Amino acid sequence: MTNNQLTESGRLKHFLTIEGLKRDLLTDIMDHAEQFSSLSGRQVKKVPLLRGKTIMNLFFENSTRTRTTFELAAKRLSADVLNLNINTSATSKGESLLDTLHNLQAMHADMFVVRHNKSGAAEFIAQHVAPHVSVINAGDGCHAHPTQAMLDMFTIRRHKQHFPDLCVAIVGDVLHSRVARSQIQALATLGVGEVRIIGPQTLLPADSQTLGVHVYHDMEKGLKDVDVIITLRLQIERMQGALLPSPQEYYESYGLTEEKLKLAKPDAIVMHPGPINRGVEIASSIADGPQSVILEQVTHGIAVRMAVMSMVLGSQSEQQDDST
Ligand code: CP
Repeated sequence: MTNNQLTESGRLKHFLTIEGLKRDLLTDIMDHAEQFSSLSGRQVKKVPLLRGKTIMNLFFENSTRTRTTFELAAKRLSADVLNLNINTSATSKGESLLDTLHNLQAMHADMFVVRHNKSGAAEFIAQHVAPHVSVINAGDGCHAHPTQAMLDMFTIRRHKQHFPDLCVAIVGDVLHSRVARSQIQALATLGVGEVRIIGPQTLLPADSQTLGVHVYHDMEKGLKDVDVIITLRLQIERMQGALLPSPQEYYESYGLTEEKLKLAKPDAIVMHPGPINRGVEIASSIADGPQSVILEQVTHGIAVRMAVMSMVLGSQSEQQDDST
């Protein structure tokens, strides 16, 4: 493999991070997703692309959107899907992560979809699985959430088409957000004109300047004339120490309200990866309002995850063909 997630011919073997992937590959994912998206309007939403493949969802951390859309995506591709319930699994009896994996691999898994609260967990698993098994990162600690970033890029492309013309603002707790990290990498790779991050000093990464983004601590300046606003949840569970005054004070300074939204371009779209906290990072009237594409993001998660899974397992077939 030329890097830890690509085959020698540059195809996806795993999908662990956006970092290091080329623009063509990201565009390819979105183009594939576009094809799968048209399936949702059909009476029969399934295609037989992954018939006979076994996909295991290993969610060591809670999820609503990611786990269910991965499951739906796998089922629409006709794969067999297993959701391991970590709370009732032998992990609670002290079995190590690698022992759990090796046991699941012995059941002939073809792919693990992994969410874990430790950064680097998906990559660690990818390094230890058998060569025929692929791993997709469904979110690891504060590190990466690549399929979320891709469904966000797909949603932006649906509304705005031409990435270089865009100014995108990411607002809130960027420091603890694996989503923001992956989004910033994807936006840069796709050639977006300007990416801004907006938040209090305590919630922005210390190395913000190296990310290639413009940093703002003031919503009035940061939201001016942007095309896309991505709001983020305060990830209290990942915060160490008091980084905020109170949710109410945070909302007053950084919550997206009707008044602040008017600073953006009139046709700006509002995004949020979910789960949303109404009245903390976003007003209900914005979350449910005409500029919000938050539920569209969820819907697009199915097509984008179908695209990623079919591309990854397609590269497995390529490797098997090469070895015969
Ligand atoms: N966006 C996201 O990862 O949501 P879940 O935690 O519900 O999967």
